[in-house]
Amino acid sequence: KILANTIFLGKDVHFLPECHSTNDTALNLVRTGQAREGSIIICNHQTKGKGQRGNSWSSQAGKNLTFSLILRPDFMDISEQFYLNMAVSNSIKQMLQNYVPNIEVKWPNDLIVPGFGKIGGILIENTFSGKEWEFAVVGIGLNINQIDFHSASASSIKSITGSEIALEELFRLLITQIEQGYIQLKKGKWKEIKSEYLMNLYRKEIWANYSTDGEQFSGKIVGISADGRLEMELENTEIAVFGLKEISFL
Ligand code: BTN
Repeated sequence: KILANTIFLGKDVHFLPECHSTNDTALNLVRTGQAREGSIIICNHQTKGKGQRGNSWSSQAGKNLTFSLILRPDFMDISEQFYLNMAVSNSIKQMLQNYVPNIEVKWPNDLIVPGFGKIGGILIENTFSGKEWEFAVVGIGLNINQIDFHSASASSIKSITGSEIALEELFRLLITQIEQGYIQLKKGKWKEIKSEYLMNLYRKEIWANYSTDGEQFSGKIVGISADGRLEMELENTEIAVFGLKEISFL
C-alpha cells in the first residue's frame, strides 16, 4: 500500500505477519542486493527481536510497532553516525508526544516516560561496501497497546494513557515525521538536531547514580560528544566520557 505524505520513505513497505527480526530481514535484503533506500519492513509478530547491547526485544503480536527502515546515508561519514540516531530519536519523540506529553530520550536511544518506564527503543545496524558506509538499517520497536510486560521497567502508551491507538495511522504519521528528521539531517542541520536531542534527554543536568566496571558513582550528564558518547561531570568536577558498554544507569 502506498503511504501518503512521504517523499521516499515507505513507498515500498514489506508487511510480514510473522518474522524473527525486521532488522535481520532488512539486513538479508542488503546482503542479497535487494535493498533500496526508503524500504520498510514491518512485522505483526516479531519472535526474535534484537535490542541494544545484545539484549532481546519482545513484543506481543498485533499490539505494538516493530519495524525497520533501510536508509542510505551516503552524505555522511560513519564517524557521524550518532547524528542519524539523534535525528530518528527526535522524530519519534516528537510524534509520540501527541499521545503522551512527557517522553524523554534516555541515552543513547531509549524512549522513556519517567515514572512509568521504557516505551520504545532503536537499534541501528550498519552495512559496509568495502570501507564505505552503505546502508543503515534503523530498527524501531514501540510499545503501544500492550499492557502486560515481563520486565518491570517496560511500559506502553496504553499502560500510561489507558487508550488504545490505531497502529496503522500511528505508523503512517511516524514515518512522515522520521522522513522529516532524515531530511533535516541531509540538509546538514546538525546543530539543531543535537540541541533538540539534548533538550529531550533524560537526566540532563541532574545528579544521579551510575555504575561503571561494577563501581557506583554519582554524575551529572552535561553533553554528548561528536561520536555519541555520554559526557558526564563527576563529583570532583572532572568530566568523564562513556561509551555504550561502559556505563549503566542506576
Ligand atoms: C533497544 O532498546 O534495545 C532497541 C530495541 C529495538 C527493537 C526493534 S523492533 C524492530 C527492530 N527489529 C529488531 O530485531 N530490533 C528492532
